[in-house]
Amino acid sequence: MKGLVLAAGKGSRLYPMTLPVCKPLLPVYDKPMIYYPVCVLMQAGIREILVILPPGEEGPFERLLGDGSQWGVHIEYVVQYNPRGIADAFDIGAPFIGDDPVCLVLGDNIFHSLSFERQLVRAGRRVERGETGATVFGFYVDDPRAFGVIEFDENGKAISIEEKPRKPRSNYIVPGLYFYSNEVVEIARHLTPSARGELEITDVNLEFLRRGRLTVEKLDRDFLWLDAGTADNLLHAGQAVRDSQEMTGRYIGCPEEIAYNRGYIDVAHVHATGRQLSQTLYGQYLLCL
Ligand code: G1P
Repeated sequence: MKGLVLAAGKGSRLYPMTLPVCKPLLPVYDKPMIYYPVCVLMQAGIREILVILPPGEEGPFERLLGDGSQWGVHIEYVVQYNPRGIADAFDIGAPFIGDDPVCLVLGDNIFHSLSFERQLVRAGRRVERGETGATVFGFYVDDPRAFGVIEFDENGKAISIEEKPRKPRSNYIVPGLYFYSNEVVEIARHLTPSARGELEITDVNLEFLRRGRLTVEKLDRDFLWLDAGTADNLLHAGQAVRDSQEMTGRYIGCPEEIAYNRGYIDVAHVHATGRQLSQTLYGQYLLCL
């Protein structure tokens, strides 16, 4: 399975912070935002990752993430020249995706739960084995109006998804993490832009739903999910990461730890990075692994 991180948004909801610095490079507590979605892909066992960037930002991303070999993965970059919407990622990413299934994660979405890794691996396998065409998640929020909202029937089966509805039919939204069979490339290619001029990921999910090939997995209420795209959410996300790390003693979004646990890199490698960062708690954490 291939992995895509869509990190190409202008971050206009965070101006002026994102005038000089692209949104996925802003800090969420002690790490750059993009570490979190990259870690989600790594936790799903995905080792081939394409990062989709805004024009002119290749340098900083390459300095930060390199070619991924330091974490035992392979990272490539591609630029999205026109902000045509989330589903455009599958068109831009088509040569990279080839004939494989693919997982897309949005560059400003933060996910965490203790059982998340198991859930990710399961979701990926189900798509890889062809048991379903797509797996998306359902997360309960108090105000779902800014998101893709899922409607369920009385048996809990998803029956519709609406993008940013004025009158939401449930409180369950689809967060920015999607597992798809290779059909997605052809589905995305045939989309037409929505009223807001974007190729909507919700239209991709609706097509899988129409084909009877969409699985929706509800996330537990204690799951941490945040779209860090506004100043309040960015602050909230930083605090949530800090609180969780302090409470559990375990780091969220630590690619070295995931790579080590998965056997991609050895402990000497982790400690070498730890020594480089030894003036930070992050470095000290690595030295204790
Ligand atoms: C996008 C998607 C929406 C999804 C959300 C998750 O919204 O269109 O369906 O629920 O990401 O963060 P946007 O970031 O375009 O407002």
